[in-house]
Amino acid sequence: MADKLLSRYEDLKAQINFHNYRYHVLDAPVISDLEYDRLLNELKKIEADHPDWITPDSPTQRAGAKVSEKFEKVRHPAPILSLANAFGGDDARAWFERVKKLDDRVEKAKFVVEPKIDGLSVVLHYRNGQFVQGATRGDGEVGEDITSNLRTVRAIPLKIPVESEKWKGSLPKHLVVRGEAFIPVKEFEALNKRLEEAGEKTYLNPRNTAAGSLRQLDPVLTASRPITLLIYQIVYSEDGKVPTSQWEILEYLKSLGFPITDIAKRFNNLDAAIAYTETFNEGRDALPYEADGMVIKIDDLTLAADLGFVGKDPRGAIAFKFPAREVTTTLLGIDVEVGRTGVLTPRAVLEAVEIGGVVVRNATLHNFDYIEEKDIRIGDRVLVKRAGEVIPYVIGPVVDARSGKEKKYKPPSKCPACGQVVEHFEGEVAWYCVNAACPAQLVRNVEHFVSRGAMDIVGLGIKIVIQLIEAGLVKDVADLFTLKKNQLLGLEGFAEKKAENLLGSIEQAKGQSLNRLIAALGIHGVGEVMAGDLARTYGNLSALSKTTADELQQIEGVGPNIAESIVDWFATPTNQKLLKKLKAAGVDPQMKKNEKKKEGAFTGMTFVVTGTLPNFSRDNTKEFIESNGGKVTDSVSKKTSYLVLGENPGSKFEKAKSLGVKIIDEAELKRLAR
Ligand code: IVH
Repeated sequence: MADKLLSRYEDLKAQINFHNYRYHVLDAPVISDLEYDRLLNELKKIEADHPDWITPDSPTQRAGAKVSEKFEKVRHPAPILSLANAFGGDDARAWFERVKKLDDRVEKAKFVVEPKIDGLSVVLHYRNGQFVQGATRGDGEVGEDITSNLRTVRAIPLKIPVESEKWKGSLPKHLVVRGEAFIPVKEFEALNKRLEEAGEKTYLNPRNTAAGSLRQLDPVLTASRPITLLIYQIVYSEDGKVPTSQWEILEYLKSLGFPITDIAKRFNNLDAAIAYTETFNEGRDALPYEADGMVIKIDDLTLAADLGFVGKDPRGAIAFKFPAREVTTTLLGIDVEVGRTGVLTPRAVLEAVEIGGVVVRNATLHNFDYIEEKDIRIGDRVLVKRAGEVIPYVIGPVVDARSGKEKKYKPPSKCPACGQVVEHFEGEVAWYCVNAACPAQLVRNVEHFVSRGAMDIVGLGIKIVIQLIEAGLVKDVADLFTLKKNQLLGLEGFAEKKAENLLGSIEQAKGQSLNRLIAALGIHGVGEVMAGDLARTYGNLSALSKTTADELQQIEGVGPNIAESIVDWFATPTNQKLLKKLKAAGVDPQMKKNEKKKEGAFTGMTFVVTGTLPNFSRDNTKEFIESNGGKVTDSVSKKTSYLVLGENPGSKFEKAKSLGVKIIDEAELKRLAR
């Protein structure tokens, strides 16, 4: 019986590792997420009953132990070399001429061209096919042991060969490979977008983010970052045969289950290799990662090794660098834009400059803290970067170029669009305009107000919202409720029927519940969950608008920041006016105070969800928790029972850790409900 279970266990591990490989390395899954979860749950259940069976290559063992204070040192089995640079074809040909003189075989050499990814060089050790250690490059001789962090990178096979049995037996007993770890550009942008929406500091570039994530002490944090890697070199092998040409090495590594670039090519002469490299310079934005060039390598590794090296640069390969995407120019001034969420963002006005074939006049400065931290002054020479689809941004000032006439910058205290005083919420870097009637935010506010999760006004899509605002019919959300049929008929595309339907659904929305109305107001930090709590506690808007920050903090899930944000919102004169208009239009829902909630496995518990869960959407998660009697709140406090952690979490994760709140994943959440 136990034998059978043990073999099922081994089988499950192999299956899941294989599906990980299909998903994270080949990008071609063969089962659904649901099926994958089922396998993983079965595995977890067996491991819970038989903890002594667990081996380090189990897919459940990715997030390893926390590193105590600092990383241990690892001596590399062979030097981890760097590369000499070539800037353009002529430089590359000069390199070829130089090495040709050293060895006759170079004349007939073949070349492999690979992308030079701008990431972090990592060195992975496998003993008997098991991933046992991973290190940074360090100084090339000694690196840092970042095994726990690297284990969380799903593209790294924990056991090789992953797919075929072909190399079983002939696999070196100790195999050390090298690759480049990085965050793909799209994932990086998504990560930053989430941070920005949460009012948090964004990251500067994918490279630093990947390097920083791999070199911090808590693997759980690394696991939440979208890091992947590509392997390109065998650094060392013991007791086993490995190929002796770069091209075959790539094929061999691939067959073992390592992630390998899919744009490498082999050429019979250098000119062809250069031509291929140049096509990539033009198309570099199409690459899913940031590449600062291509690497041209002599294919015959015996020959390459015989050529030796100069310092740390092997003579057998060269980095063909793409033209720089960073230039200096003068910062003429700083504009402030009001975003759709009310966030004020500074924008650099630059002396026009060409970067990578495009004339750049503006660049982002991220946020006001950034200007201060980098001590960016008006009149400064600044370093500007433009890469790929990313909006150009100011890296920092060239301090040495200062004349003394540069001026320090002071952020505005009033919204440049509506003149209202701007607000800052503790723990966030952004400054906000919280005026619900601010013209810069009006479209977005109305859009949010009428959306399905809020007042749910059917038939009022974004296009009509814009039409109404442009025609001057809607200056704040309350104006919706006093719209007249003849006004609508004056708009393009509106006939009798359409106008009547819209007025009908607006009329219906007057009866929406208090929760929905509170959520619809778009108060910073107040989501649907909190809106429900506020509705139950206060019963109507007039009571809520008279509350104090202290009183609000009695409600579970309301911390000082949100309390302040609510009080500020109601204290803003334009918002007061808005409330009066709503009431006058008949929008003033009442609710019975302290209505009872459901009972279940989660009764008395509160949950906070952060990041994207594998199967549950936000709404589903909330429903699931509530249907089991639990409560979902928006912010973490000491009273939070569990933080449900998904991929790419926000600051809630850090906060939960600092408060010692229990952290669980989706599978664990489901298990707890049973
Ligand atoms: S080969 C002898 N290949 O670029 C091997 N390096 O400037 C020398 N890099 O430290 C390295 N992609 O971190 C090689 N396909 C690639 C690469 C690559 C990125 C990095 C690597 C190295 C740096 C050299």
